[in-house]
Amino acid sequence: MIQLIRGFKDILPGEVELWQHIEHRAAELLEDYGFREIRIPIMERTELFSRSIGDATDIVEKEMYTFPDRKGELITLRPEATASVVRAYIQHKMHAADPVRKFYTVGPMFRRERPQKGRYRQFYQINAEIFGVASPLADVQLIVLLDTLFERLEVPDVRAHINSLGCPDCRPRYREALVSYLRTVEDVLCADCRRRMTTNPLRVLDCKVPDCRQAMTGAPILADYLCDACRKDFETVKKQLEKLGINYEIDGRLVRGLDYYTRTTFEMQTGALGAQSAVAGGGRYDGLVKMLGGPAIPATGFAVGFDRLAEVCGLSAERFVRKPALFIAALGAPSQEIAFEWICRLGAAGIEAEMDFEDRSLKSQMKRADRLGADYVLMLGEQELSRGVALLRNMRTRDQEEIPIKAIVAGLIHRLQP
Ligand code: HAM
Repeated sequence: MIQLIRGFKDILPGEVELWQHIEHRAAELLEDYGFREIRIPIMERTELFSRSIGDATDIVEKEMYTFPDRKGELITLRPEATASVVRAYIQHKMHAADPVRKFYTVGPMFRRERPQKGRYRQFYQINAEIFGVASPLADVQLIVLLDTLFERLEVPDVRAHINSLGCPDCRPRYREALVSYLRTVEDVLCADCRRRMTTNPLRVLDCKVPDCRQAMTGAPILADYLCDACRKDFETVKKQLEKLGINYEIDGRLVRGLDYYTRTTFEMQTGALGAQSAVAGGGRYDGLVKMLGGPAIPATGFAVGFDRLAEVCGLSAERFVRKPALFIAALGAPSQEIAFEWICRLGAAGIEAEMDFEDRSLKSQMKRADRLGADYVLMLGEQELSRGVALLRNMRTRDQEEIPIKAIVAGLIHRLQP
């Protein structure tokens, strides 16, 4: 038997209803905050991701699904959505009339990471991006939105972790100080971090290897190197979060795994997820639109890990699972034919109705109705048919009544409409 690929998964009925509910609630909230949906392709030219996410990141170095298409052009299954949204914003000149635009998009992403609970090779994200707003209030708005969403979805124990990564004016000074420090502890760093010292030194800050963590306790802190403008922005973020009563923590190690970030970055973490504690991540990326060939327009955004959100959401999937409103137990060919016409008309009217197509015994049809969890069963046999009636049983109360076949569909629609 052919099994699915490691790190990929099926989302089955029984579980998918919760996903639908989450997506619906998220889209509704995003629309209420002025975001509009954008749909972007699942594949892009590899260069789009390597340039924006950064050649020296784990994602680009070792996690992308990249292959030549039939003409030899390198294409990649998207590991994230931000780069594509930026490309679309530039390509369709969406900044021309008004640079301020807000988009959201939901869909699968692909990263060849080591699979474990909360970490998959195909996973889903709910992305939101704001273009054209330099004010740190836009960052605050994103965090507030996430906080509201998680509260509505009853995610326990959520906390915003925030940091500022500075800007091209102040980050190079920090990088220099950090590299000097790293040289003093080089001997104890893991092989990856020794390599990162030259390629991407900031990433050493969030290495999970215990020796590296220990060695980094004395490392210089980015917050001490911020320029006045970055510092002022970060102060605003903190002040506004406090004012709005958002539970947050400053996390100097939060450097994120993508190179395009500037200034405020954040993650929403929950204690309910184990090792993969980030249920959303994001931040400002003021240089990316220009870097990808557009005008100098600031931007900020986030992505929610949909799979992780579904895992920690406090709502039970059971609540959203649909059951048929009616099961028609028809006995004999003439009754079956009539029942078939009825279920078609009921389905078209928005009433989910099922029947058995095999003309099995009444007992086995009733069993199936029970298994499906139908609210009502309508019984129609030769005898009922000759008398022009059918028997309607309420499966909860077990009450039963005879109803005339004439105008039965209209009557059932009236009675069963949710
Ligand atoms: P990211 O931190 O790489 O950011 O991913 C965002 C979220 O996606 C993570 O917090 C996590 O919940 C989920 N996630 C990431 N990788 C996996 C995985 N392998 N399996 C399951 N869930 C995963 C970004 O992708 C940025 N594009 C976010 C952003 C938007 N920044 C600005 N705008």
